[in-house]
Amino acid sequence: MTAGVWGVLHPPQKNIKNKNTKALLKRKIRVSMKEDIYFKNMISLVNASKVYHQSGEEILLFRDVSFSVEIGKKIAIVGSSGSGKTTLLSLLAGLEPPTTGKLLWDTKDFFSLSDAEKNEIRRNEMGFIFQNFELFDSFTALENVLLPLELLGNADEEKAMAMVDAVGILHRKNAYPSEMSGGEQQRVAIARALVHQPRFLFADEPTGNLDKNTAQKILSLLIDQLSSKQSLVVITHDMLVAERMDEVWSIKNEKLVRER
Ligand SMILES: Nc1ncnc2c1ncn2[C@@H]1O[C@H](COP(=O)(O)OP(=O)(O)O)[C@@H](O)[C@H]1O
Ligand SMILES: [Mg+2]
Repeated sequence: MTAGVWGVLHPPQKNIKNKNTKALLKRKIRVSMKEDIYFKNMISLVNASKVYHQSGEEILLFRDVSFSVEIGKKIAIVGSSGSGKTTLLSLLAGLEPPTTGKLLWDTKDFFSLSDAEKNEIRRNEMGFIFQNFELFDSFTALENVLLPLELLGNADEEKAMAMVDAVGILHRKNAYPSEMSGGEQQRVAIARALVHQPRFLFADEPTGNLDKNTAQKILSLLIDQLSSKQSLVVITHDMLVAERMDEVWSIKNEKLVRER
């Protein structure tokens, strides 16, 4: 995005000859300041609770939880089955609202935004990796990776191809999910989640369905692809995965507890 902005304004002029150039340079400064501010954005849950109703019973998953994902942070979430890990990701990604409390996108109340604004944030700024890969069966590997770019109105096949290459499956680009191993499918899912360079990546037990060896390789691949300006929230039971993150949190008694 930054490159695009600078590209439009290129080249900077040494001798400011006319008003137009001055105006352009002013705009450039304004844009660059905006970007700086923009990069301080984070996602925060503020005093959030979550209650589900199941056959007349209330299930309380979170009680008064406040939690932030800062730009560039790599965070692992651990917790027993049914403790609410997947729900926590849905809350952070704004896929569902907290029962009480707020989700803030920078300083804005995410759920007060219009559907169009929410969709734009999700499409531009978020990527998802699921335990079961969730690839589209009738799409090839390359077509799956191209999809997020298509949704953003820029089906840049070269970019998708470069991402497919980066995750080591260029030779499988025309294969359908049913023709790929679990490890290969997860590589496609990683490429699809990262191809549009989202600021926030959410991964729900991304190596849970892979053998240990493959899991380690895939995880390294995932971490290697992330820049220092991208954040990762990964749910995992694997302590080797958790060890490689900046922070480890666990879900205990409807709260998030910092483990490391
Ligand atoms: N949409 C839903 N409606 C009702 N109950 C739900 C819903 N989603 C999850 N739950 C319940 O919330 C609890 C936590 O689920 P989940 O977040 O998937 O846990 P985890 O990912 O830690 O295994 C479970 O008891 C589950 O049945
Ligand atoms: Mg889960």
